[in-house]
Amino acid sequence: MKNILSMSQFSNQDVYDLVDRAIEFKEGKTCSVGADKYAMNLFFENSTRTKSSFQVAEMNLGMKEVAFEAGSSSTTKGETLYDTVRTIESIGASVAVIRHPEDEFYNQLLGKNINIPIINAGDGTGQHPSQSLLDMMTIFEHFGQFEGLKIGIIGDLTHSRVAHSNAEILTRLGAEVSFGGLDSWYTPEFAEIGPHMSVDDLCSEMDVVMLLRVQHERLSEDENKSFSKEDYFNEFGIDMRRVDLMKADTMIMHPAPVNRGVEIADDVVECEKSFIFQQMHNGVFMRMAMIEAVLQGENTADELINNQHK
Ligand code: CP
Repeated sequence: MKNILSMSQFSNQDVYDLVDRAIEFKEGKTCSVGADKYAMNLFFENSTRTKSSFQVAEMNLGMKEVAFEAGSSSTTKGETLYDTVRTIESIGASVAVIRHPEDEFYNQLLGKNINIPIINAGDGTGQHPSQSLLDMMTIFEHFGQFEGLKIGIIGDLTHSRVAHSNAEILTRLGAEVSFGGLDSWYTPEFAEIGPHMSVDDLCSEMDVVMLLRVQHERLSEDENKSFSKEDYFNEFGIDMRRVDLMKADTMIMHPAPVNRGVEIADDVVECEKSFIFQQMHNGVFMRMAMIEAVLQGENTADELINNQHK
């Protein structure tokens, strides 16, 4: 595949292939596809997990990272994203991993004179394919399949690229997706996918309870002013009482960063049912599989998307 931009570019088989490959890496398989190649990670929004696990994945594949800090880059002088990526390609980078606040930022780059692969590390409120794929890996490791699984996604759906990516791909893989959180976050886009339920019902019925952070940085001043952490936690937060409602093998997931005491209680973050740190661990192996796939340039459904943008 040339680029990784959105979950919609993947066939179900592509997802299974990436999950299988990531599990092989986790089991110790090595690959030197990146030897003598340079990677650049262009993060225009903050990140801890995604950026550092791409860095580790790149090093595991034999690549060297050329450091890039958005705040000290020439984008602060008005250089466009296109010129920035064209520049790093000219300098010798073989892959650009990009997180950007603009939805579908990659449309500025496609069909132009950029030949290195682009990996979307999160576009605005759009998509987060690497998080989604590592989530699929984590669910697959636990349940061995997706068909018929009941998945509850609770939280700030509208602003969450993870919610967009995961609701889409899980439905396509045969899971039944339901939602929880503020009514105002349950927009028609999500209503088309599955029902809105109380958090107690979601905890009792779901195989996976997937929590999302309230994205205060994307809320308006008024929304932030009227937000009460205590009220939110009482109505939608997962505490041990709600954990006790869950089935024995229910997974609690969260892309992190978590806001302890808001969507999740302190003692739930690392409880027996929590896979939060397992998700982060798996992220390195999934990102290795993704980088390998773009460096090998295999053709998949994403070529169609790419061509549509040309
Ligand atoms: N899950 C996630 O994207 O975390 P970061 O913002 O820390 O990369």
